Amino acid sequence: MALWGGRFSQAADTRFKQFNDSLPFDYRLAEQDVLGSISWSRALVKVGVLTAEEQRKLEAAMQDLLAQVQADPEQILQSDAEDIHSWVESQLIARVGDLGKKLHTGRSRNDQVATDLKLWCKTQGAQLLLAIHGLQRQLVAVADAHQGTVLPGYTHLQRAQPVTFAHWALAYVEMLERDYSRLQDALARLNLSPLGCGALAGTAYAIDREALALDMGFAGATRNSLDTVADRDHVVELMNCASLSMIHLSRFAEDLIFYNTGEAGFVELSDKVTSGSSLMPQKKNPDALELIRGKVGRVVGAQMGMMMTLKALPLAYNKDMQEDKEGLFDALDTWHDCLDMASLVLDDIKVNQARTLAAAQGGYANATELADYLVAKGIPFREAHHIVGEAVVYAIQVAKPLEDLSLAELQQFSSVMAEDVYPVLSLESTLGKRVAKGGVAPDQIAAALAEAQSRLAARQL
Ligand code: ARG
Repeated sequence: MALWGGRFSQAADTRFKQFNDSLPFDYRLAEQDVLGSISWSRALVKVGVLTAEEQRKLEAAMQDLLAQVQADPEQILQSDAEDIHSWVESQLIARVGDLGKKLHTGRSRNDQVATDLKLWCKTQGAQLLLAIHGLQRQLVAVADAHQGTVLPGYTHLQRAQPVTFAHWALAYVEMLERDYSRLQDALARLNLSPLGCGALAGTAYAIDREALALDMGFAGATRNSLDTVADRDHVVELMNCASLSMIHLSRFAEDLIFYNTGEAGFVELSDKVTSGSSLMPQKKNPDALELIRGKVGRVVGAQMGMMMTLKALPLAYNKDMQEDKEGLFDALDTWHDCLDMASLVLDDIKVNQARTLAAAQGGYANATELADYLVAKGIPFREAHHIVGEAVVYAIQVAKPLEDLSLAELQQFSSVMAEDVYPVLSLESTLGKRVAKGGVAPDQIAAALAEAQSRLAARQL
């Protein structure tokens, strides 16, 4: 039975019912709906709507229902109830009869759905924080194992200056750190309870909304009923957290897809996260990473969709807002899956240190060092830059790295070149000179690693 039958004399068209029902997706709010209802029943005792005895009976039935939905949430899908709120109410009526019909006193589905969804966001948000943390730990472990692994660093996908594999991994730890704190901020902001705002104007019972909020685990109650039932900022914010983090994950995926190519050969991905070709027997494709890279599209798309749904919606609740759930669920599920999958990829990744070293040595990545050397000998940087450019052209012609050119060859470009140029051209020297905070000097990387390790260890999970 629908919750609102009294005013209607005709049944809904089955096609409209199907179009209107949200149970096929909002069944995922079952736990939150029951928990919110338990708190609501307690609040109703304080305003004299329920006796303590009635509340005890109702709460027992709701605890029973909670256990049932926790054990098998999909069972809800068998019902043809309109939404999860109707389903919970009908289940209570089936268990405790007319008493179940008292629970909705003073409440609207508008404040109820807002409450359920925020409770769901809190639970899901906590899971996502854990998943981000888990991936950060994996990256730190990779960094620890590869402090000395030289990797060519790129700009414009041209070999630019050498870095280390540790430095690469720690770059993603930083991106995820921002994702973590962005999500924490969003979760803190949404931590106010809508319940007791009624349909839009507030409830006509003198509910202590602050106490009710605390009972449900919120930090407090929202301030304006009209805003509260119309507000889905938190949905957009969480989707934005997901979008930006997915953009980070797509860059992580793309880096590794490139490192894994036959041409680069810097890493080898495990059989556990790759797949073969039905036609070409030699292939081992980086599907896990490609899917991470690809799924950013649907997450960003869901955020855009939600923002368009909310644009110019008049206050307060409108049925348009029922469109909030599928996109949010999908965006957060996808983000969680991708964080997990990225961890799995790192689990068994093999880094080919000989290949990364050869590539770092081969790309004239020490050309800046040679320019700095000339500067130290008194040549203005712009001139030094030009001289080294010519030397690189020559080195490419004779197919040698700069450090393999003889002194006589180097002196064709500048007479200030001397024997002391060779140590400057070594990878060790190139890396070792980046001593300022955030650079690739071994001491800096060791410090960055130690700092990341202690930051993660100190985090309250
Ligand atoms: N299924 C609805 C939603 O998800 C619940 C709120 C319905 N409120 C209403 N006034 N019809 O938004």
